[in-house]
Formats: sequence, C-alpha cells, structure tokens
Amino acid sequence: MRRSLLMMLAVMFMTVCSAKDPKVLITYFSPTGTTKSLSQDLAKATGADLFEIEGAQPYTTDDVNLGNREARAFKEMADKSLRPEVKGKPDKLKSYDVVFVGFPIWGDAAPNIINSFIEGNDLKGKTVIIFSTSGSSNLTNSYNKLKDQYPDLNLVEGTTLKRNPTPEARQAVIDKLKETIPAK
Ligand SMILES: Cc1cc2nc3c(=O)[nH]c(=O)nc-3n(C[C@H](O)[C@H](O)[C@H](O)COP(=O)(O)O)c2cc1C
Repeated sequence: MRRSLLMMLAVMFMTVCSAKDPKVLITYFSPTGTTKSLSQDLAKATGADLFEIEGAQPYTTDDVNLGNREARAFKEMADKSLRPEVKGKPDKLKSYDVVFVGFPIWGDAAPNIINSFIEGNDLKGKTVIIFSTSGSSNLTNSYNKLKDQYPDLNLVEGTTLKRNPTPEARQAVIDKLKETIPAK
C-alpha cells in the first residue's frame, strides 16, 4: 500500500516536472499602433516575447490614409501578389513552439506584408495563432484566406479586437488569445 502510494507520488512528480510551458513569440504588424498596443498587453499577460513586423520601407501615415485611394496600402490591397520587404527577422525563431501573427485587417484580409513575413520565416511545425484588430470586420475571412494560401502550416484562428472596445471587451480578447495557446 505504502509502496504504491510512493510510486503514485513519483509519477505525479515526474509529470509535473516534464509539463513545460510552450515558448511563445508574438509577432505583429501595426502601422498606426492599435495592434502593437494589443500585442504588448498580450505579451504582459502571457510572458511571451515580441517581434514587430516592420516594412524595410516604413509605413507612413500617408501610406495608410483611408481617404487616398492612391495610398500604398490601397496599391498593396489591389495587387495581392506584392510582397513588401520586412525589416529584419525574429531572433531564435527555431526555439518557439507557438507564434502569434497579428495585423490590422485591410480590405477584409491580412496586409501583404504578413505574406512576406510568413514566406520569409520557417513556421512549419509551430502553432501559428492568427489575430487582428479592425474597424468592424471579423477575423474569419482573413484567416481563411491565409489558411488557403498556406495549407502546410498549423494556423489557428484567434480573434479580432474591434474599434473602440470597452475595457471588458479588450480584456476578453486578451483572455481568448491566451486560452488559444496549446499546452506543450
Ligand atoms: C488600408 C486600410 C484598410 C482597412 N480595411 C479594413 C477592413 O476591411 N475592415 C475593417 O474592419 N477595418 C479595416 N481597416 C481598419 C483597421 O483594420 C483598424 O483601424 C486597425 O485597428 C488598425 O490597426 P493598427 O493601428 O495596428 O495599424 C482598414 C484600415 C486601413 C488603413
């Protein structure tokens, strides 16, 4: 009886010791700061590392001017084959089990620079959690487009933070994204 109890305790101890938390990286594109601020709060809530996806040619306010159909963002939305160059790469990407990829929804899709980032970094074998901020669009269409483009990746649909959220709605988004992280 005592022996089997000891055995049970030993197994429980080994299980606790071997259940490591996954290593998480939050990457985000955020020309006007909304996705950045959400990503920073998510990093605080999860202890994850952060990497900002920036254009090698930075995105200016004019580039994302919704009133100007000639702006860079509209040109990129109109030609989904464009691949704006990303500045730098995340450090030690290999060591991460889970990579969040966050972006503002543009034209009900991920901005082209997200394609550049996904194609320029080896995300195979990782859990890639997609999330966004938006005016009013849901994430599903943007997520489905990425899923079609990258069928070999383990993409997981997170959620979107819509414009002018209440503090509770913002916290709910952070909680939901945190819950999406799979156990290792
Ligand atoms: C070029 C452009 C296209 C956009 N398209 C959409 C859209 O299709 N649906 C939507 O809900 N919001 C759209 N938005 C609003 C952004 O998704 C939203 O403001 C986002 O939170 C901005 O994130 P950021 O501050 O991280 O750049 C668009 C914004 C821009 C600049």
